Amino acid sequence: MKLNKGLFITFEGPEGAGKTTQLEMLRTYFENSDLSCIVTREPGGTPMAEQFRQLVKHHDEDEPIFNETELLLFAASRAQHVRYIIFPALQCGTNVLCDRFYDSTTAYQGYGRKINLDFIKILNRYAAGECIPDLTIVLDLPPESGLKRVSNREVVNGYDRLEQEEMSFHRMVRNGFLKIAEQEPERVKVVSALAPPEEIHCKIVRLVEDVVEKIR
Ligand SMILES: Nc1ncnc2c1ncn2[C@@H]1O[C@H](COP(=O)(O)OP(=O)(O)OP(=O)(O)O)[C@@H](O)[C@H]1O
Ligand SMILES: [Mg+2]
Repeated sequence: MKLNKGLFITFEGPEGAGKTTQLEMLRTYFENSDLSCIVTREPGGTPMAEQFRQLVKHHDEDEPIFNETELLLFAASRAQHVRYIIFPALQCGTNVLCDRFYDSTTAYQGYGRKINLDFIKILNRYAAGECIPDLTIVLDLPPESGLKRVSNREVVNGYDRLEQEEMSFHRMVRNGFLKIAEQEPERVKVVSALAPPEEIHCKIVRLVEDVVEKIR
């Protein structure tokens, strides 16, 4: 599968769904198939955007971060990331695997924090420019299971603010991802995150192959 333009694949879903695990497995699959790919993440992905990530996730305790500020920082991070890293890579024919992208903004800030969804859609498109994912994998599982997986993991920087939200918030976020998939069934595919990693990986490879068939 050699395409002129790289494939843009994003991994979405709640905390602990296995996004990073599956992204790394797909990276290995691409590399073993001699396909160039880069792996990146949001928020972050460039030195400047990583600073936005730090601000939004672990800002000073004394000063609360407002929902509006949080939304705009995510958008700023994305605007930088897309233009500096993702778009140039895709133009060179490099495939891009991204750990979270604008559907996380819709799910967390829109469905979770209840910021106007139409506004988020416009902001997402503005920040993303021409970089619309060819395929988005939503790894789906009940929030309790995902958070349990994350709590088993070694804590490096302390839990971030989004991880500490109430369970009702995490349910709205999960529901948000499922709504996005319902609205854009061509691009967004839901895969159960409860199966063993290898099984999920095989499903994802099939979805990637389907997209390549369609584009070719
Ligand atoms: N299919 C799976 N079944 C059981 N455990 C899994 C599965 N996939 C990943 N895990 C484990 O769950 C934990 C979370 O996985 P991972 O870090 O890939 O999730 P994530 O979606 O990237 O999380 P975060 O939202 O915090 O970045 C890890 O300890 C990982 O080994
Ligand atoms: Mg991760």
